Formats: sequence, structure tokens, C-alpha cells
Amino acid sequence: MRIQVSAGGLSGATAKSGLLAIPLINGKGSSERGTSAHLTEVDRRSGGQLTALRAVGDAPSKRFSFSTAPAGSLPAEQLLFAGLGSAETLDRQAILRWAAAVTRKLAGRNVRRLAIDATPIVAALKGDAPALYANGGASFGAGIDARSKERLDAGVLAVELIVRGVIEGSFHEGLDGKSHVEAFPAPLELLEILLPTSCDLSAAKAAVRRSEIIADGTVRTKRWSNRPANEMPPLGIAEEARDRARAVGLRARIIGVKELERMGAGMLLAVGRGSDNPPCMVVLSGGAPRSKDPLGRRLAMVGKGVCFDTGGISIKPADGMEEMKMDKNGAIAVIEAAATVAQLDPGRVIHAVAACVENMPSGHATRPGDVVTALNGKRVEITNTDAEGRLILGDALHFAERDLGATHLVDVATLTGIVNSTFGGEVAGSCGTDPNFLDETHLAARRAGEVYWPYPLADAYMKNMDSWAGDFQNSGTREAMLIRSGLFLREFTTVPWVHLDIAGTAYRRANAPWAGRGSTGAAHSTLVELAMGGGVRR
Ligand code: BES
Ligand code: ZN
Ligand code: MN
Repeated sequence: MRIQVSAGGLSGATAKSGLLAIPLINGKGSSERGTSAHLTEVDRRSGGQLTALRAVGDAPSKRFSFSTAPAGSLPAEQLLFAGLGSAETLDRQAILRWAAAVTRKLAGRNVRRLAIDATPIVAALKGDAPALYANGGASFGAGIDARSKERLDAGVLAVELIVRGVIEGSFHEGLDGKSHVEAFPAPLELLEILLPTSCDLSAAKAAVRRSEIIADGTVRTKRWSNRPANEMPPLGIAEEARDRARAVGLRARIIGVKELERMGAGMLLAVGRGSDNPPCMVVLSGGAPRSKDPLGRRLAMVGKGVCFDTGGISIKPADGMEEMKMDKNGAIAVIEAAATVAQLDPGRVIHAVAACVENMPSGHATRPGDVVTALNGKRVEITNTDAEGRLILGDALHFAERDLGATHLVDVATLTGIVNSTFGGEVAGSCGTDPNFLDETHLAARRAGEVYWPYPLADAYMKNMDSWAGDFQNSGTREAMLIRSGLFLREFTTVPWVHLDIAGTAYRRANAPWAGRGSTGAAHSTLVELAMGGGVRR
């Protein structure tokens, strides 16, 4: 799909499109900023289509509701009025999802040229860019956002989100696995974004290229994470990662069982030993060894790559266990984020470490009560083999710090069921040891259109992990389960570290207007923004 931007409003289109999508935004703010004049033009040139829809109460005002209409003299074969909801709750995520929903709406139709009228979006964004990180309401996260002095060009922002949305919306989760699907994605050849005349076209064009690269990485994350465990064992991730590294100019190192044994990665090995598919650690690196990124950091992104989580000997109930093929989402996100960064800024210093393993029960599986020595020398009693994520991440985090010399660590994991039931599918959990770095991560997430919310690493709960057999245990009583998952990981870090728990946000069980069921690509875009410095206040 070719992507073009023009800055001539509705008259800017270079050619007639198959479909022109027009966002409808509610609220007084948008009309004050001249959107109503723009919609008057749409109405007039379409021959009164908007008036006609309004007369029968059919103008889609709700977010993700749609109405098609004839285009009249507008440069399109058809119009799609697409509700973007109220201006008060408009944020980056809403615009991204809106563009994806518009694209998914075209599935099964023969639309080759899609045009999107960005004027109402730019008008709604104007001057408000710093505040537009909210999710589900203007006040969400406002405290964090208000401290950012950043002012982004509203046209550039609109282009970024529309491009990402359309590319993500073109992905069909069924095409890799099914031999038949009902509605194929539209065969889009051209996306044309119609900006108002005031927009900076060269900045918008640069934003197109950047957003294409990011969206491509997010789609790859979804596609790869959706693969079932029989097709994607730990060494399968390693092979794919090696190919990806070669394609984008990253160095790849695959650390197999022999070397993990020599190193003493006792926790990763303990989780892997129950499976016939051996574990491994995948390390992708960019930039000159030992050097730092432009922010003076050596950032390592560490991901949980549990190809399948049966729970091990502490086995999970059968119902819903098939979802545990998604337990590798964190690993895929860090690998793809490193690949995206390498494309956006070749030679930038970045590391991705994926701890890949399959958690199975068997005759040689780890037993509850086994005590192992972690890579950092701590003695850990494994009281619950289903709390495996923290075990493999602990070794991977320590490796990143000790062997890669990471100055900053961020890990991503589908770590706990409790974050899923508490925060749900829209908000992920976060915690960390350095307030500034945590803050930067939250800001990067908001730039990317994702939401993370912090929970406290209250020291007092360390005692719930007391062990009489080792230094501490990996599970413990039910009290403060979420906090303890973070406290456990903290034992394996000494530099600024952030943990992102995406157990709720990594995959969806049902279709949404903006995305099909399956992996959401969670954390990929946030990691990219964080690595590219998008979380630093300007
Ligand atoms: N992979 C699971 C967490 C999970 C649950 C992810 C549901 C997505 C949806 C993780 O390895 C796990 O089993 N966690 C346990 C930890 C407990 C045994 C301390 C949990 O959260 O129940
Ligand atoms: Zn797990
Ligand atoms: Mn588990």
C-alpha cells in the first residue's frame, strides 16, 4: 500500500478515491475550532448527504459507528461517515483505533484507494497535543501528562495515528491459520490522507515513513505471537529472531542449554527442563558494542517468552489453557521492538533479550519445593512451578545487566492473572525502581497510544516470600500477589528497571471494531518510543 499526504483539505486529493472516510466528532470544542465550516463543505459538495443523514437521526456520532453515503462532487466514489465520538474523550488511542476500525469496515469490499479526511482530527488536536494521552476520559493519567511541555504538530500527530491505524487495521488475524475466511481485507493500494492547508507537508511525509515502520513491527508482533506452540517452540523463536536480525542489521546471539548451564542460569533451566523442546536465551543487539544511545543509556528490553504455559507440575485447569500459547508475547514484543528501532535509526544502541522456554509437566520437570541457584547466585525455592515467568525473567534481567552492561532495564511479560482481572484488557500494570525511568516509560506509552498504570513495590511484602530452604520463594501466600511478582523481579536488578505486566492487554478473546481476536501487539510501540527517546520530556 502506497501512502500519500496532501495539504489542500477536501480538494487536496490527487485522484478520485474508492472511498473517502470523514470523521464525525461530537462536542462544542470541535465546532468552535472550525470543524462545522468544514462539515458544511462536505455536506454541500456531497449534495446534502450529511443533512439527510441527520434528518433521519442516522449520522454516526458514536465512536466506531458508520454510515455510507454517495459522494456527490467530492473526489470519491463513496463516502464513509465514521463516528469518532466526543471531543472530550478523544486521545491518541482513540484516533489510532478509529483509523483501524475504518479499515476493518472495508473488509470484503473491493476498495483499492482509501482517502481519509484528517481536517476534523487536526482541528480537534490543535494545541491540545500534550493533553492527548488520555484513555477513556480526559482525566486519565492527566497528572503525568500535564508535566510534559512537549508540543507536537497536530497534522504530524494525526498522520502518525492514521497510518498506524490503517496498517494495523489491514491485518487479518485469520489469514495465517485458516484455509477459508469470510471477508478478506480490502485490497488497498493507496491511502491518501487529506490534511488542512496549514499543515507542514514535509514533516507529515517523514511521519508516514516512521509510522509505517512502527506499524509493520506491531503487525509482525501480533502475527508471530498468534502462532501456536506446536509451530513456535523456543528454538523457533530463536530462528525467527535470527532472520529478523539479519534483515534489519542487528547482531543475534542464541544462548543454548549447554551455555546456559555453564553460565549458571538455574532459574531459566529449571523452567525449561520439563519440556522436550529445549529453552534458550535470544539476544539481539544494535549499535557499537559498549557504546551508548544519544540519551547516554544502554537500554535492554527483556521479554518473557513462554511458548506454552501449562503451569508445569503446578498444572493449570484445562479450561482456557489454550490461551497460554500467548505467554510468549513479551519476548516477541522486545524482539520486534529492537528490529523496529534498528530500522528507524540504524546503528542506535539497543538490546533485546528474550527468555524462551516451554513450561511442561513431565518426569524430569521441576517439582514444587525444588531449590535452584539463579544466575546472580541467589538461592530460590520454587514453591509454584506456574510462577515461571519471574524465574526466567530474573535470569534474563541479570544477564542483561551483567553481560550486556545495560544501564536501563525494561521487561515485558504476561506475568500474572491478577493484573488481567484487576486492570483488564485496556490497562497494563507497571512498576519499577527508578521514578524518572518509570515516568519516561509512561510518557512513551502515551505517545504510543497505550496505557500502563503503576503499582507500588512495597518492601513489607518481601516477607511473604520467605523460604526456609532458600533465600526466598517464587510464590507465597495470596496477599499482594501482584506486588510480589514485581518484588521478586527486583531481586535480580541493580540499575533503573521498569516492569510491564501485559497479561491483560496482550491478547483479546473476541473481535473489536479496531482489531480481531488474538494478540494485540501490546508493548511493541511503547518500547519503540521508549528506546527512541519519546519518553523524555522536552
Ligand atoms: N502466564 C501466567 C499468567 C497469565 C494468566 C497470563 C492469565 C495471561 C492470562 C503466569 O505464568 C502464571 O501462571 N501466573 C500465576 C502466578 C501464581 C502461580 C503465583 C498467576 O498469576 O496465577
Ligand atoms: Zn506464564
Ligand atoms: Mn504460569
